[in-house]
Amino acid sequence: MLEIKDLSIQYPASKGVPNLALDKVSLTIEAGEFVVALGASGCGKTTLLNAIAGFIAPTEGEVVLDGKVVEGPGFERGVVFQKHALMPWMNVIENVEFGLRLRHVPLHERRRIGMECLRRVGLSDVAHRPVYELSGGMQQRVGVARAIASSPHVMLLDEPLGALDAFTRESIQELLLDLWNDSKGVFFFITHDVEEALFLATRLIIMAPRPGRIMHEMRLPFARQFLETRDARGTKASAEFIAMRERVLTLVHETSSEGVH
Ligand SMILES: Nc1ncnc2c1ncn2[C@@H]1O[C@H](COP(=O)(O)OP(=O)(O)OP(=O)(O)O)[C@@H](O)[C@H]1O
Ligand SMILES: [Mg+2]
Repeated sequence: MLEIKDLSIQYPASKGVPNLALDKVSLTIEAGEFVVALGASGCGKTTLLNAIAGFIAPTEGEVVLDGKVVEGPGFERGVVFQKHALMPWMNVIENVEFGLRLRHVPLHERRRIGMECLRRVGLSDVAHRPVYELSGGMQQRVGVARAIASSPHVMLLDEPLGALDAFTRESIQELLLDLWNDSKGVFFFITHDVEEALFLATRLIIMAPRPGRIMHEMRLPFARQFLETRDARGTKASAEFIAMRERVLTLVHETSSEGVH
């Protein structure tokens, strides 16, 4: 469904040193996968997400979605940024409807869809509040509602929970798993947090810097375990989860120091 083929992205050289942010990265993602990218700062995670979103063009290789080469942004890909990507002069529902408005969806229809998306993220009661009155966690949920409003096949999330407290973060992790499970589409999620990565990913990719590339890939059972049991704490406290956390932490540390300096 989503194919990343020999994708290289070279930024302009700084001080004469070429900056190969991604070096021949290949990855095939099927519908129904929750892919999480983990890795040291600068290993190209955001660059990879931006290439899938169509915000930046490949230097070499291509991104193919449902058989079509990605050549720019599109409504079938929803993006959630780290923070503050909402329009502060619009209220909550206007933010959520924004993409639908750009597509000329009539007001009553986009309001219906927008309200349904707000209900799904648990924010129906703040639809008409200005966004600056909302907490950081609520603003991130508005960002998620806006992204799902276009029913995207692919959701791209770049460290969306990085700035949130642990409790809010856990509740949004659970929300994201429910949205993903209902959507049957692809989620591509970036984080620095190993526990978050293990909890959400059905497939984890660990990247390394200089040049940016994928070093390890693994399939994980914990997201589906949570959806079956609804027990996030129990899932994260299981012996299997803890053993995997140690293994992944070791891989991340090794991988971060492997860059060619
Ligand atoms: N617009 C840009 N112009 C030039 N170089 C860039 C640009 N964006 C990123 N880079 C460089 O490309 C490399 C990969 O950056 P990228 O932002 O993709 O990493 P990342 O894995 O998302 O890091 P972080 O975890 O800090 O967000 C880095 O060396 C970075 O300095
Ligand atoms: Mg980044």
